[in-house]
Amino acid sequence: MSWKVESKSTDIATLLQEESLFFNGNGYMGIRGNLEEGLPSDTNTIRGSYINGFHDIVEISYGEKLYAFPENQQKLLNIIDAQGIEIWVGEDKHREKVSLHSGKIIDYTRILHLDKGLTERRLHWRSNSGHELNVNFKRFVSFHTKELFQQYITLTPISEDIPVRIVSSVNGDVKNFADKDDPRVASDDEQLLAITNLLWIDESSFVEVETTISKLRAAALSTVSVSDKSASYRYEFNHSSIQTTIDFTLSRETILEKRTFIADSRRYQDLQYTLQLIKDKTASLSFKELANLQLEYMTSFWKNTDVTITGGDKIQEAIRFNLFHLLQSAGQDGKTSIAAKGLSGEGYEGHYFWDTEIYLLPMFTMTNPELAKKLLHYRYSILDSARERAREMGHKNGALYPWRTITGTECSSYYPAGTAQYHISADIAYSYVQYFLATNDLDFVKVMGAEVLIETARLWLEVGHFHQNGEFRIDTVTGPDEYTAIVNNNYYTNVMAKYNLQWAIKFVQFIQSEDPLHWQSLKSKLSLKDSELEAFQSAADAMYLPIDKTLNINSQDDTFLQKEIWDFEGTPKEHYPLLLHYHPLTIYRYQVCKQADTVLAHFLVEDEQPEDIIKESYNYYEKITTHDSSLSSCVFSMMGARIGYLEKAYDYFLESARLDLDNRQGNTKDGLHMANMGGTWMAIVTGFAGLRLKENGLHFRPQLPEQWEGYAFHIRYHGRLLKISSKMDSFTVELLSGVQVDLHIWDKKHTITADSTLVITN
Ligand code: BGC
Repeated sequence: MSWKVESKSTDIATLLQEESLFFNGNGYMGIRGNLEEGLPSDTNTIRGSYINGFHDIVEISYGEKLYAFPENQQKLLNIIDAQGIEIWVGEDKHREKVSLHSGKIIDYTRILHLDKGLTERRLHWRSNSGHELNVNFKRFVSFHTKELFQQYITLTPISEDIPVRIVSSVNGDVKNFADKDDPRVASDDEQLLAITNLLWIDESSFVEVETTISKLRAAALSTVSVSDKSASYRYEFNHSSIQTTIDFTLSRETILEKRTFIADSRRYQDLQYTLQLIKDKTASLSFKELANLQLEYMTSFWKNTDVTITGGDKIQEAIRFNLFHLLQSAGQDGKTSIAAKGLSGEGYEGHYFWDTEIYLLPMFTMTNPELAKKLLHYRYSILDSARERAREMGHKNGALYPWRTITGTECSSYYPAGTAQYHISADIAYSYVQYFLATNDLDFVKVMGAEVLIETARLWLEVGHFHQNGEFRIDTVTGPDEYTAIVNNNYYTNVMAKYNLQWAIKFVQFIQSEDPLHWQSLKSKLSLKDSELEAFQSAADAMYLPIDKTLNINSQDDTFLQKEIWDFEGTPKEHYPLLLHYHPLTIYRYQVCKQADTVLAHFLVEDEQPEDIIKESYNYYEKITTHDSSLSSCVFSMMGARIGYLEKAYDYFLESARLDLDNRQGNTKDGLHMANMGGTWMAIVTGFAGLRLKENGLHFRPQLPEQWEGYAFHIRYHGRLLKISSKMDSFTVELLSGVQVDLHIWDKKHTITADSTLVITN
């Protein structure tokens, strides 16, 4: 079954999207799928290399800056470009560059090998003067040596001996991409990197750069060689780049290998020394060995993470594609997270949002809890900033996580759809609870989880209040739907805050009973009073969850249902996404949702409402949701499956599964839509298979879309590995490792014993 994503396109517009689709990364760095040889000048391209979290600080300019608006923001920077390799054929003045846009392409295919974790371009090409050759480009960013970007090119002559010149470059003169008309992309492309070091050391190019304000440094050490022993080498500098020129005659298959090691000062002090050390360490490993290590890593990733679908090849390709890119983008060092576009592009300026906790962590938590824990570590590492932000915002207690950030401070300049999304603090708390439910890792709760939950729970006491009728209410926030802002009692926020408060208490109780000494020290560290815990309980018990009795739905907030419904019929297709065509106030004035809000809340905390309200709410909100955000279709898929709309669930799933592969939102060039990619996994596992993690164990409500013959996936649960398969006539759970466990299928309890298989037939 499909392990490859292929393209034969040489079309410039498609190549721009492919820069995102074919990017290479390992959670530490990401290299866009640019062509080694470049594109014709004046062509639209975003040539980019990124280190997760490597940023500069830029001032936010406001016309009117009010109290506690963030003064500056972090911005992910495009760093040193080491991708450049030009291959020239022919003698002196008649040299022609091997390119997709000159000479004759006899055959060309680009392949992403999902099983091997590398990309490849196969080109059969003839120059205008008749030199014919095959060029095979392979590249990957190594999971074994996280600083390594590996390129490996095989040149095979087809015509007689061909004079060849290789020009390999490492270029420090780079900028970010800007688009003034799209708020999802940076509007400024000022130069933020200065070159501080350009050296030729030990047959390698070394380029070091420094950011303007944050003073972070990044460096690349790059070595290039060919297998032809008679080749001659020359290197040249200019003010910003180092070029290595290699001349030889191509008379037999020849290998060109370029290894670039990249590091930054957030992780290391002396970059030159560090990179030389890493380079020396890997020197004994051949390309084949490094590629094998990559394969080994990928094989173990797929062992736990692969999802197979029988009966839809385009879907199989898409789901693996999505999972692969999630892995390539996930920070694994506890200091970084997953940016909205991962490491595939610069959209949303490399910021981390709630996307990680609500859309991406479910997949990692259930298949790779070690990695999930690292992502939770990151949120713990910025807890102090969240505390400070809460003070800045006038709260005496608690922690308010930033809506978008890299280092922990708020980077959102538009507060109605930024800072006001207080729900992010509850989302983060939720992801700690889900991790705990999946792993039973009480140690982690003791060390980090409880603190995060207590601090976020405190926030709700600050921001909410007890109304005279006894209800606990939360005013003046924005829920997930960014087409509605600054409202009272957003259902999503309130129900998630309730969960946050309840679980803060539960975490406290677990620690109190398991490790009273630790509890005492945590309590004094946080200066927590018993009365606060009582207040958590009262607020949770009294939490107001808006409901409209006539419509029998949860209202998105106190006033949402009083507004006029958006004129969908009168809105031309080209006016979507609405955010690019209407002033926010126009949008806020109507019942129109950019994305799932109440429907998402019903997924996350499903036991809060009876079935009929969940169903009627879906029916209602579906009609007024534009899905202008890519975080939406997957939720309507999962919840469609939950309430028995299997066909709808399947249609929404299709929308989500190939969103980037088919460029459905029109902006794949700016980077891949990570949250949606995680949402595709969720649509299968939590949608069609109906997986839920609850306090009393694992739950499934399996269903099979009629378009498929079956699907299967693995999950990790409390140290066990389970294989789940759904077919037309059966649902099977295999316990591949670990001890006996209980699970619920359609609310009926089953026990599966070690090394056994549970088969439920329809
Ligand atoms: C969505 C947010 C999301 C952000 C980053 C916006 O378009 O409305 O919910 O967090 O994109 O993906």
